[in-house]
Amino acid sequence: MAKKKQKSAKAKPTARKTIKTAKKAARSPKGKGGLALSGIRVLDMTHVQSGPTCTQLLAWLGADVIKVERPGTGDATRGQLRDVPNVDSLYFTMLNHNKRSITLNPKSPVGNKIFARLIEECDVMVENFAPGAIDRMGFPWEKIQKINPRMVYASVKGFGPGPYEDCKVYENVAQCTGGSASTTGEIGRVPLVTGAQIGDSGTGLHLALGIVAALLQRERTGRGQRVTCAMQDGVLNLCRVKLRDQQRLAHGPLKEYPQYPNIPFGPAVPRAGNASGGGQPGWIVKCKGWETDPDAYSYVIAQAAAFPALAKAIGREDWLTDPEWNTPEARLPKLDKMFEIIEQWTMTKTKFEVMDILNPLDVPCGPILSMKELAEEPSLRKTGTVVEVDHPTRGKYLTVGNPIKLSDSPTKVVRSPLLGEHTDEILRGVVGFSKKDIEEARKTGAV
Ligand code: COA
Repeated sequence: MAKKKQKSAKAKPTARKTIKTAKKAARSPKGKGGLALSGIRVLDMTHVQSGPTCTQLLAWLGADVIKVERPGTGDATRGQLRDVPNVDSLYFTMLNHNKRSITLNPKSPVGNKIFARLIEECDVMVENFAPGAIDRMGFPWEKIQKINPRMVYASVKGFGPGPYEDCKVYENVAQCTGGSASTTGEIGRVPLVTGAQIGDSGTGLHLALGIVAALLQRERTGRGQRVTCAMQDGVLNLCRVKLRDQQRLAHGPLKEYPQYPNIPFGPAVPRAGNASGGGQPGWIVKCKGWETDPDAYSYVIAQAAAFPALAKAIGREDWLTDPEWNTPEARLPKLDKMFEIIEQWTMTKTKFEVMDILNPLDVPCGPILSMKELAEEPSLRKTGTVVEVDHPTRGKYLTVGNPIKLSDSPTKVVRSPLLGEHTDEILRGVVGFSKKDIEEARKTGAV
């Protein structure tokens, strides 16, 4: 008992001291401590989308990201979906901001030595090549760990250990194998993939969190670790509610699904059109202009709490006293009819008018915004979520900025590097090469 008392007496001043220090830090001018990941150097062996999404986020958070690219060609996406001849594609520029580029072939003898030096000088290595590619370059994890025990080595692969671990995987394969496609689409129609890159960018996001956590753990343990994210796992994580429903299905039909009670459920969670994933009935309804504008639609959720306000707004106050409509249970078997009636009203309003009328009534809703509308939305420009960037060969283009906002670590989006733009700078400043060393490395084709 006495011991316990002593312990808490000791703990109090420490906590107070910690708060005092934090208060002092809060008063110090912003920007003095650099950005969140200042001082962290990343060896970026990524290509295409999933890996570059991850390293771009780390760069936006302040890390020095060194993108290693194959001499002559670089990341294949530089040339993919080109809209302007001989200019880095938007595919590449929009995934590689705030990075430095070095051309290097780690498979050549000189390149191999340079690569080992980079491993020594970096805190994090990220890659998303096909399974075994980095090992085939001569750098299995055991060797990387030996060269630099503090290294956090992070990889994206299509699948985790199991029957498909050796497979190459792209976005839509991950959506199909991770549970998204089987649960997306209209009732009774083909499975659909979504436009959101949940396999690539979603897994890149997961990986970035793993890396930051590993760096934090390294503060305590002094050693790095292996971080792996499989695209199938990342997609399944984002489809968590559907695995929830799979288990609910064993106890009876999913009453909030639009199938209920008219279409029987099979053994697996079905596609449910535009029904909301939560317990509240929701649907996409047409708005004024839908005949010519493919995006003149709104999502409306007929949440029980806001139902009276919704009914009044659409001129159906009678629903509130009619036992056929005035309880969630009564409405459940005829949600399609209910949304048809709501749609008769929304078709008389633009999607923005629907938002303006229903939002103050606490009826959850949202207009279906096109990419054009998002690109032109002033509030997104103001917050830096949509940014205009200038590029030396492309000129001005729009990109999505950092969606993660840190009050003490603001993001300034810097254009993507040209192929090998920083080769000499990195060889000199990071590897420690002289001008002569650089010339010799270049002669051998290593850089
Ligand atoms: N210098 C020399 N060679 C290099 C190099 C460099 N700087 N960078 C990469 N290479 C080589 C690799 O060593 C590898 O050669 P190897 O197969 O002889 O060992 C090759 O280039 C790259 O291979 P790979 O990853 O198989 O490219 P790919 O275009 O055939 O496949 C993916 C692309 C995306 C399907 C595959 O990389 C993959 O499945 N990645 C993991 C999952 C993933 O991230 N998918 C989503 C991508 S958005």
